[in-house]
Amino acid sequence: MKRLCIAALTLAGGAGSLALAEGAASPIYGVTIPDGYRQWELVAPAQEAEPLNELRVVLGNSAALKAYRDGKLPFPDGTVLAKLAWKHTPSPAFKSASIPGAATTLQFMVKDSKKYAATGGWGFGRFINGQPADEAQHQTCFACHQALVKDHDYVFTRLAP
Ligand code: HEC
Repeated sequence: MKRLCIAALTLAGGAGSLALAEGAASPIYGVTIPDGYRQWELVAPAQEAEPLNELRVVLGNSAALKAYRDGKLPFPDGTVLAKLAWKHTPSPAFKSASIPGAATTLQFMVKDSKKYAATGGWGFGRFINGQPADEAQHQTCFACHQALVKDHDYVFTRLAP
């Protein structure tokens, strides 16, 4: 883990303190918010029950969608998956419909089998209001994905039919 931290800091660009800069990279992994992710293709939506009460969508870049469509695991280097989440709230126009409320977290998984060899080839980033969450939160990512979906290259979401 120590080696990974150093790698992330080095990659963040020379000065070790850069991890605290504006538009900063995630701790441990050095993942930043990729440009243009809102234009990526849908992998699947998800809904999270109480207490989080969230609507979510998982989007993927072109490498991700190609791998999904080809049914190929592991995902190739260059794959990036994004998870967007919002509180869900009843539509003011139609009561039984649930629509996105306030945005909660924006998360990414970036595949680089060399750089992130210690965590299944994936680098993780969680952002709240555009800023990376703290190191303690980033220590939880791989553990949960590894415990539950190791046999699907650590990725929960399947391509929606
Ligand atoms: C306690 C379990 C748990 C932890 C901890 C966790 N995740 Fe996940 N993650 C999930 C589940 C379950 C999904 C499936 C989509 C959903 O239900 O929201 C998911 C989906 C994702 C996805 C979409 C790709 C996929 O695997 O489906 C990304 C990106 C992601 N998580 C990033 C992160 C990051 C970054 C962290 C740490 C800051 C993290 N996750 C921590 C359970 C977890």
